[in-house]
Amino acid sequence: MRQAEPSLQSIHRKPAGRSSATDERSKLVAEVLQREFTHKLFPAHLQLIPQMHELYEMELASAEAGLMSDEELVRNAAYFARVGVQWTRHYLICSGESLRLPKHSSSQLRSFFQSNQFRTGYATHGLFPYRGKFHPQMIKGLLNAMGLRPGDSVVDPMMGSGTVLIEAKLMGIKSVGLDASPFCRFMAQAKLDGLTVPLKPLKTAYRESKTVFEHFKKRAGQPIAGSKVRYYTPSEPLDEAFREELDPFAYDPAFGSMPDGCEAATVYGFLLLAYLDSAGYSERSERKAPYDQFHAILERYIFVAEKIQNVLGGFESQLAGATALQGDARKLPLEDASVDGVLFSPPYSFAIDYLANDSFHLNYLGANLESLRKEMVGLRGRTLREKFDLYRQDMAQVMGECARVLRPERFCTVVVGTNNNQLSKILGTSPENVTGIDELISDWASGYGLHQVRKFSRQIRGMSNTMRTEYIVFLQKR
Ligand SMILES: C[S@@+](CC[C@H](N)C(=O)[O-])C[C@H]1O[C@@H](n2cnc3c(N)ncnc32)[C@H](O)[C@@H]1O
Repeated sequence: MRQAEPSLQSIHRKPAGRSSATDERSKLVAEVLQREFTHKLFPAHLQLIPQMHELYEMELASAEAGLMSDEELVRNAAYFARVGVQWTRHYLICSGESLRLPKHSSSQLRSFFQSNQFRTGYATHGLFPYRGKFHPQMIKGLLNAMGLRPGDSVVDPMMGSGTVLIEAKLMGIKSVGLDASPFCRFMAQAKLDGLTVPLKPLKTAYRESKTVFEHFKKRAGQPIAGSKVRYYTPSEPLDEAFREELDPFAYDPAFGSMPDGCEAATVYGFLLLAYLDSAGYSERSERKAPYDQFHAILERYIFVAEKIQNVLGGFESQLAGATALQGDARKLPLEDASVDGVLFSPPYSFAIDYLANDSFHLNYLGANLESLRKEMVGLRGRTLREKFDLYRQDMAQVMGECARVLRPERFCTVVVGTNNNQLSKILGTSPENVTGIDELISDWASGYGLHQVRKFSRQIRGMSNTMRTEYIVFLQKR
């Protein structure tokens, strides 16, 4: 007998009783929803840092959990907030207000620092806006993933603002960093010093900030507010100072007295970085008079130093030595097989002209920009094609040096961006046929016995970046 067609109403009407299959499925749904996915990856007593949204961060967290003991995690993990009942040091360092941004800061900038509270802006990392700077949290995670532990050593042959050195110092890993730019050497040193610089003279300097400002103005020249000048002509007294070969980092009473205690090298360098930072702002914007800008930035610098020193209180003896040098990554001043790790990020072939960006500061330090240009990887050459050819030649040499100084079996990690569209135009080919910089690095490295063990990508989220993706390439010396 043919069954009657079901009516539309009967299809939509829920059955009066619940079937056991529905019950089972609902039970499973509730169970799956309650089961945190991270509990599958990590033991239940490890609690991840808030704001982790990216796959590469999970990869690094997984390496930390797989490689480190609970005690090591508490001290040095980058991606865990809690181990059992104990907060990790990274969580404590990053908690609270990070930078004390100026009142007029844009809401975009504020929200950037809020949503990146555990990634950047903590310790002394946020002190100088250096283009192309690493995410410090990622560096901590990479140092851990490379198997480096307190007492080991690491080199950053192109250290920029010194992110690797600062992280390594906090983690108890000895470090050496080099940069062709004398300004980078100075900046990295001042940021390292900020971890331990005496606070009392800094506070005196803040109270007497007019005297400090006048000293540096006499020495370094006054920024021209809103000028946006890229090449600044040093003031007369400075020219004379360099003719007499004065140390540009050291206090000199010829430029006016300084408040008590500010002559000490670490204090003087820290104040000078604040002055140069404020001068950079003044040149970019007329919003504040140069002195007011300096006053506001100095307040922020002191806040940052005090905050990190409060967290480190009692742990200072666990900080490791760090040496910041001016030098050339193509000729590292280090012995063969003498370091436990190499970690760096090369310039993005021709994306950023670091010399133009830092011209005020480099001029202050008496650097000859044109001769420096000849040493800078990515800036040599006239046409884009010539620049790219020289970049390849220079970077191959840098990889050879990294291989030479690294101990066998140890790791060299390179964080590098590539823009294959841009390269395709220079090489006159389609983007699909371009070998990215990440692949070139691996090829050169393998010629020197450094073999790729893993590569992962991450999105670049900086506010004004043309490069959207970068690669983290792990190489092992065999
Ligand atoms: C991408 S930046 C590094 C940024 C750094 N990772 C940080 O966190 O601030 C690349 C750096 O390479 C430096 N550089 C360029 N040529 C160099 C060379 N021949 N030797 C050493 N450093 C060089 C540049 O001055 C620049 O600071």
